This record gives sequence, structure tokens and C-alpha cells, in this order.
Amino acid sequence: MRAYDIILKKRDGKKLSRNELEFLINGYVKGDIPDYQISAWAMAVFFRGMDAEETADLTMLMAESGDMIDLSPIRGIKVDKHSTGGVGDTTTLVLAPLAASAGAVVAKMSGRGLGHTGGTIDKLESIPDFNTFLSRDRFIDNVNQHRAAVVGQTGNLTPADKKLYALRDVTATVESIPLIASSIMSKKIAGGADAVVLDVKTGSGAFMKDIGQAKKLARAMVDIGEEVGRKTTAYITDMNQPLGYAVGNALEVKEAVETLRGEGPEDLTELCLELGSAMLKLAGAAGDLERGREILREKIENGEALDKFKEMIAAQEGNPEIINDFNLLPHTDKTVEVKAEKSGYISSIEALEVGTAAVLLGAGRERKDSEIDLAVGIVLKKKVGDKTAEGDTLAVLHVNNEDNLEEARTKLAAAFSISDKKPEKKQLIYEIIT
Ligand code: URA
Ligand code: CA
Repeated sequence: MRAYDIILKKRDGKKLSRNELEFLINGYVKGDIPDYQISAWAMAVFFRGMDAEETADLTMLMAESGDMIDLSPIRGIKVDKHSTGGVGDTTTLVLAPLAASAGAVVAKMSGRGLGHTGGTIDKLESIPDFNTFLSRDRFIDNVNQHRAAVVGQTGNLTPADKKLYALRDVTATVESIPLIASSIMSKKIAGGADAVVLDVKTGSGAFMKDIGQAKKLARAMVDIGEEVGRKTTAYITDMNQPLGYAVGNALEVKEAVETLRGEGPEDLTELCLELGSAMLKLAGAAGDLERGREILREKIENGEALDKFKEMIAAQEGNPEIINDFNLLPHTDKTVEVKAEKSGYISSIEALEVGTAAVLLGAGRERKDSEIDLAVGIVLKKKVGDKTAEGDTLAVLHVNNEDNLEEARTKLAAAFSISDKKPEKKQLIYEIIT
């Protein structure tokens, strides 16, 4: 077999066999096939696409290119949840304890933030002493005891995807549905998930700006799940404005606690009930989505969801008292308000701009090795559809280092649009794909 012939075949729009994909992927990981040939193949895939079988084959080859986490010592169906990334997306912090309190088993590996999107591991590390790096045995024990643990990625997970993603990033081949779908699903499969709930975000703050593309991506990932025997449900959800009010690590922990207490933002609560009910259904803990929502509501109302978060924090060495005293979380002394320059209704809040303003304050990373400040961030005071008078506070910046404050403030102010007419209420959930 020669890489040349495989590239040619894909260039001419033909389907590649599993053997051919295996030759490419394994050869690439070993260093036998150079970057330039894989770049040419990726560009051919970008233009020619791949069918469901090819996409599933590529997914499994990438999953098997490194460690495959074996979660079989954990009892029950392990349901993972994945978001394609948004701004202020606090759902995992809420969902892990919420779904676990209702009977699902959540053995989750999460990542750190990059660019304008945050990461669950950074958020959890804002809880004093919280340990996101448990040994494999301890991770398994924790899940067996508490039904929930969230840790960072360790070991050599999907090296083929790491190498390919970095290459795609510099060869204008990231935006290919089969390549994105296989990249995401390979990581979920290597992570040991039995079932997956996907939150595919669409809108200005999302990776998939266009809803048509988001639907195609969701469909491709659900098809992969089907092909490889992992039950998968995908939600297409709105990311035109940030989710909830808080954007920033410790600020989002606080928002998660409020949500688990039943006092959270309406959109974040709604999304958690939706995604959570799908998790319960896949885990066999609820017969249908409606029943799943009922159970989750009950767990919030009777305090068991919040107790589960407390239990999970303590089991990972964090200080569970943060739940009763937010002053124990990192916080800033200085806050700066952004005020409305006219009266009217908030017609849009550009999520990307809010995310970027938070990065400027130090809440997120511009590069993989940037230091972040867990205390800083942004708290919105108004969301799309809210009425505002001139001079009302639209958002509050929580600030430590003031180097980029002016730029962040300007960006945040520009993220808001105000109109005379009340805008139509935006849908939060566009579609469920199973
Ligand atoms: N996120 C991923 O993990 N992979 C992609 O290819 C794109 C987004
Ligand atoms: Ca939020």
C-alpha cells in the first residue's frame, strides 16, 4: 500500500476501506507517513467527505491509537456528556452531580479552556484543594462510591487525533464534518463511555456558527455512535449569547451551586434538565425524557443534587464548605460595571466578544501554556429580551490585573445591542437528534 494511492483515491471522491485508513493513521502516528501527505488527504476529505462507515472506521482507529480507558470495573452504564464549547457553559459542573443524584453513573474526563471557551477542569480547580488528577484506581473507586467523578485527561489518549488536529489547524482543514465528528467521538470512546449525550452549540459564540452545519455534525456523531455501539443523543442548542450569567472559573462554580439549589439562571437550568434527562434515559434511570425531567427537578428541590456536589467535592479533596460560603472561592476586590448608553431592549449579546473580554481579564488562555486567574471574569446583569434603562448596569467585570481592563471593558460594552422593539424570544434548544 502507498499513501499516494490512498490520497489519489480520496481526491477522486472514492470511499476508503478500513485497511487503507488504518495504513494512513497508524503510519502517521508512527512517523512513517509525513505531514504533507496527511495534509493532502485531509484536504481531499474536506472536499470529498466520507460516508458513515468510513467516518466510524476513522473514529475507531483514532480511539485505538493510544490508551483505551477501561471503565468496566465501574458498575452501571457510564454516560458521558460533551459540549462542542461555548461561553459561560457551566453545564458539566451542574450535570455531573445532578445526574448522579438521580441514578446515572458519571465517570467524566474533561479538558481545560482554550481561546474564548472555558474548560471544566479549570473551573473545578477554583475550588480550594480540589484534585482533578486521581489515579485510575481512585477514579474508579470514587465513581463506584459516589456515582460521579470529574478528572483531567491523563495518559496517552488518542495520539492520532492530537497530531491530526494540530495539522488540520494549520492547513485550513478543521471545518470538515467527518473530521470533526470522528475527532470528538474518538476521545469519548477512548475515555470509556458506554453512552454519550452531545450538546452541539450553534450561533456566534459557537464553533459551528451555522445551524445547518451544526445539525450535520450532530447527525454524523450520532451515526458514529450507532456504528460503534455507543448509544448517542445529540442536542442542537443556542450559543448566540453566553449561557447563564457568569463567565469565568470561580464565578461559574458559584453559578453551578445556585443552579443546583434551584436558584440558577433560567437558560442554564433548562439546558441542564434537558441534557440530564437524556443522560438518565441512556443510563436506564428514567423511562423517557419527561420522567427524567421530573426526577431531576425533584433532586434539585429536595437538596439531593446539591448534596451530591458537596460529596463529589469532598471525595476529590476539595473544600465542600464553598457551597455555604462563596467567600472561600477565589474572588477579586475590584469590580467594574458596564452601563447601558440608551434605553430599550437587549436584542443581542455577542457570546464570542464576551468570551474574549473574559480572556483579556485573564479568565482564559490565549495559548495552551498561558496562566489563568481563577477569580476574574464577567457577570451579566441583563440577557437578551430584558428591558434596560439608560445607565442600568449591563454587566460587571471582576478584575485583578488591570493591564487589559480598558480593552475588555470596551469589548464587553460593544457585545450588547439595544433596540427599541422587544426581540422575539430565541429558542434555547433547536433539535434533538437520536
Ligand atoms: N473539537 C474537537 O475535538 N475536534 C475537532 O476536530 C474540532 C473541535
Ligand atoms: Ca454561565
